[in-house]
Amino acid sequence: MAENASPLKQILETHRVVVCVGSGGVGKTTTAASLALWAAMNGRRVLCLTIDPARRLATSLGLKEMTTDERVVDAATLGARGLAMKGSLSAMMLDGKRTFDDLVRRYASTPARAERILDNRLYQYISGSLAGTQEYMAMEKLHAVRSDPRYDLIVLDTPPTSNALDFLDAPERLAGLVDSPTMQWIVTAFESSGKKSFSLVGRGAKMVLQGISKLTGAGFLEQVATFLTEFNDLFGGFRKRSEEVGAALRSPEVAFVIVTSPAPLAIEEAIFFADRLGEAGMNRDALVVNQVHRVLPEVKATTSALEAEAKPHVGEHDPAKIVSRVRRAYDDAKTRAQADRIQIDRLKKRIDASLPLLEVPVFDHDVHDLDALEAVGRTLVG
Ligand SMILES: Nc1ncnc2c1ncn2[C@@H]1O[C@H](COP(=O)(O)OP(=O)(O)O)[C@@H](O)[C@H]1O
Ligand SMILES: [Mg+2]
Repeated sequence: MAENASPLKQILETHRVVVCVGSGGVGKTTTAASLALWAAMNGRRVLCLTIDPARRLATSLGLKEMTTDERVVDAATLGARGLAMKGSLSAMMLDGKRTFDDLVRRYASTPARAERILDNRLYQYISGSLAGTQEYMAMEKLHAVRSDPRYDLIVLDTPPTSNALDFLDAPERLAGLVDSPTMQWIVTAFESSGKKSFSLVGRGAKMVLQGISKLTGAGFLEQVATFLTEFNDLFGGFRKRSEEVGAALRSPEVAFVIVTSPAPLAIEEAIFFADRLGEAGMNRDALVVNQVHRVLPEVKATTSALEAEAKPHVGEHDPAKIVSRVRRAYDDAKTRAQADRIQIDRLKKRIDASLPLLEVPVFDHDVHDLDALEAVGRTLVG
């Protein structure tokens, strides 16, 4: 790819929101933080919304106490490393449960109702651990901050998830949960009892409910019914909100960067992800292949020449053994690099040729401080 094409530079300079998506462990958080830093250094006022930064990365981003409030990354910290920040960088840790709680407070008709929902066990389960909730709440938070006039650019990291697409389905899934016939039947049975207990529901319903209660523990269904009754109250507002979030994600000012590693499973997910984003009407702006092993130059020297060269440096060790060990390590690295090339070629064949593909080499250390983030940013953006 031509050096001066720099598709990510254009994305960072012209979009309001950049969302980094991909399967867990590939480098989404690293990519999001690197892009945010690059944009901030180059004049934009950036908010980086991050999910699960490693402790050292959090510290580098000024998120020392791992709080969920926005923290400004001090320009002097960059200055001390000889890096100039022309714009500004703030970072915020996403907390799906807290975002959900805020949503409940906003849409419940009374504060007392909000508190009843927040205290409900089923709500606590859904908001804390239902698949897709964390993903959806990342998008919800994005929607909440995207009109903040203090920022020109918001870079969103997405949760480490076994199903990287959960966030696309999450609004519908939450809607489906509340709308499902079973759940509605429970609510009706509960409400028609006219009491906050199941004691007066019809005999048939009562037997079924008692049966389920045996499986789920006493009181659980009452919790479900209370939750649904209360949740119905805020559901109109909630559904409208999730439609807004969905529409906002399809806006031309939102760019999606798909991040992957060269591992075959991650590549498979990246292909699937690109397809799904397209089907869902989302933009696909760039692909980042992170942690690529470098192709090593051929070694032309003969073994005996290498041994002669090694001899003065290895002390009492046997140069033949050392050279053979180094050669084995070299061959392993070569094999890894070749395997990566095969996977990247496979990816190129399967995705739209117009989608820019950028590679980041695997570094021999973690990417946890501002220097390393700056280096990744430079590799990606130029
Ligand atoms: N190019 C790279 N070279 C070496 N280590 C990397 C690279 N990119 C990321 N890492 C490290 O890999 C780990 C996972 O990266 P992270 O960005 O947290 O992934 P994700 O957010 O996709 O789960 C982190 O410890 C990070 O420092
Ligand atoms: Mg992450």
